Amino acid sequence: MTTILGLSAYYHDSAACLLVDGRIVAAAQEERFSRKKHDERFPSHAVAYCLREAGLTIDRIDHIGFYEKPLVKFERLLESYVASAPRGLRSYLMAMPVWLGDKLWMADNIRRELGTEAEIRFGDHHESHAASAFYPSPFEDAAILTIDGVGEWTTSSIAHGRGADLTMIREMRFPHSVGLLYSAFTYFTGFKVNEGEYKVMGLAPYGEPKYVAAIRDHIVDIHDDGSIHLNLEYFEFVHGLTMTGEGFERLFGGPRREPDAPVTQREMDLARSVQEVTEEVMLQMARSAHRETGARRLCLAGGVALNCVGNGRLLREGPFDDLWIQPAAGDAGGSLGVAYALWHRYLGQPRVSAERRGTWAPRGSGAMPAYADEMHGALLGPRYSDDEIGAWLKGAGVAAERMDRGAIAEHVAELLAAGKVIGLFQGRMEFGPRALGCRSIIGDARSPSMQSVLNLKIKFRESFRPFAPAVLREHVADWFELDDESPYMLLVADVVTKRRVAPPPGSEALWGIEKLKVRRSQIPAATHVDYSARIQTVRREDNALYYDIIKAFYRLTGCPVIVNTSFNVKDEPIVCTPEDAYRCFMKTGIDVLVMESYVVSKSAVIDQAPALDRDTSSDENSVLVVRDAWRS
Ligand SMILES: [Fe+2]
Repeated sequence: MTTILGLSAYYHDSAACLLVDGRIVAAAQEERFSRKKHDERFPSHAVAYCLREAGLTIDRIDHIGFYEKPLVKFERLLESYVASAPRGLRSYLMAMPVWLGDKLWMADNIRRELGTEAEIRFGDHHESHAASAFYPSPFEDAAILTIDGVGEWTTSSIAHGRGADLTMIREMRFPHSVGLLYSAFTYFTGFKVNEGEYKVMGLAPYGEPKYVAAIRDHIVDIHDDGSIHLNLEYFEFVHGLTMTGEGFERLFGGPRREPDAPVTQREMDLARSVQEVTEEVMLQMARSAHRETGARRLCLAGGVALNCVGNGRLLREGPFDDLWIQPAAGDAGGSLGVAYALWHRYLGQPRVSAERRGTWAPRGSGAMPAYADEMHGALLGPRYSDDEIGAWLKGAGVAAERMDRGAIAEHVAELLAAGKVIGLFQGRMEFGPRALGCRSIIGDARSPSMQSVLNLKIKFRESFRPFAPAVLREHVADWFELDDESPYMLLVADVVTKRRVAPPPGSEALWGIEKLKVRRSQIPAATHVDYSARIQTVRREDNALYYDIIKAFYRLTGCPVIVNTSFNVKDEPIVCTPEDAYRCFMKTGIDVLVMESYVVSKSAVIDQAPALDRDTSSDENSVLVVRDAWRS
C-alpha cells in the first residue's frame, strides 16, 4: 500500500487530500473544520480528518506533497518589487516579514505541523492544477488548461495529458493574468477579491457589454495564441495594495464602488463587459490548446475554471468534443493535484482512465454517458452515521423523528412540494466550493417566492443570482439547452423555450434585481434574467438519496428540478458536522432538517428552547437585508 498526502495552504482555501494506491480516499478544506471561511492556515484539521478516514497515523504516510514552490513565489515577489521600486515599497514591507519569517521555512513548518521528519516535496502551482484537472478525469488523452490569478510566476498554462503522462507545453506569466483581470473588475465594482468574482458573474446578465471595446482597446490585448497582455498602467496589484487605480477611474467614469454603496448600472455593464472579454480569452486559449495538442477533449482547473458561464460557452462554441472540469478548481484542489502528480509522475505509476476501462461514453455518442471520473461525485469529506447523529441529537436534547430509510425521499419530496425549505445533511461532505446534495439547502424550483424566501430568511442576503437547479440527469435536455453531464454545477445553459413563460406586461421596465423577481419559466427560482441556469445533473450512482428525493418530487409534481444552495449562511463555511447543521438550521428560516434518517422540524423544536444557544437575530437580519439590498 502506498499513501500520499497532498496539501495546499498559506494563500487561500487550505486543504488536504489523501491518496491510497492512487485512489482518492479523502479530501477536505480546512475552513469546514475551523469554521473560518477560506481559511488559509495550515490544514491541521483536514489532515487529521483524512488520516482518520483511512485509519492511518502520520507515520504511515509514504509521501507528502505541497502544491506550490514557496521559493519561486518569493522570487516573483522580490523581482516584482525590484521592477517597480520604489512604488511597491509599502506592499513589499507588508509582504516580506511574512515570507522571511514563515513561508521560506515552509518544509520545516509543514514537518512541525504534521509531527513528522518526512521529506516534503513541492509541486509547481499550475502543474498541481493541471494534474488535478487531468488525472481524475475520465479521459485517456486530453488538452489541459489551467487559468487562475497567479501561482509562482505562471497565471495560466496549456498542458497535454496522455495516460499517466502530463506534459506542460506553454505558460503565461505574471503580471499578465486572466484571473487578475477579473479580480481587478471584482475590486472596482466593489466586491471582495478572491470571493466576489462569482457575484460579478451573476451580475453580468443585468448589464450591457458597453465597456468591451474600452477594455480591449486600453486594458488587455488578446493574442491569437490565447495569451493576453495587460496594460500595467491600469493596474496597481504589482506594486500597490489595491487592484486598480486612477487609470480605471478615468476610463470608467469615476471611482470604484465602495463595498457598502448601492450597485448601479455602471457596475452591471462593467460586469457584463469583463465577463464577455474573459469568455473570449477562455475560448481563444481553448483554441490554442486544441491546436497545440491535437486532443479532442479538454480538462480545466484554476480559479477561472469556476466561471461556469465561460465553461458553458467553451462546451458549446469551443473546439473540443468534451470537457471535464475539476470541481475543486481553486487552490484547494491543488492538494489533490500534487498528490496525483506524486503518484503518476514522481512514482511512475500507470493510470487506467475510465475511457480505457470502457466505463465512459463520450458526449454525443447516443449512449447515456456514465461519467466515471475518479472524484466520487466530489463526495470526499466526512460522513456521519445514523448512530452518531442520533447520539448527538440526544445529547443536545433535540426532538427528532427517526424515519425508515426507504420513506425519507418520499417524505422530503412532499415537504418540498408543500413549499417547505429543507436542510439536507447526508452522506460525505463535498470537496470544493459547491454543495451538491450532501450539505445542501433545497427547495421547490417552481415556486415564484422561493428565490426571495431562501435569500431573505435563510441566506440573509440579497443575491443577483437565482439558485442552482438540480435536475435528474435523464430529464436535463427536457428542461435545459444541455444534454450532458454537469455533476459539479460548473456549466451554465439556458432554460429551453418550451419551459419559458411570457413575462407579465410592464416587466421590461423593471431595473436591477427587480428583474429577477419576474417569473420567466416554469422554474423561476432557478432561472436567471437571461434565462440561463447553473445546472447540476444528478445520477443515482453518485448520490442515491438526493436522486431519490428529486425523483419522488418528479412523481408528485411532474417537475424533475429542485433548487440547491449550499448549507450555510453568508460569510460562514458550509456546514460539516451535525452540530454545525443544527446551529445553521436554528438561526435561519429552514423549515425541516433532515440528517440521514433523522428528521427535525422547526415547528417541533422552536418552543422547546434547545440546548444550543439559539440565534434569534434572523428577523432583524431580514430587515437588514432588505435595507441593504444591492449591497455586497
Ligand atoms: Fe491557483
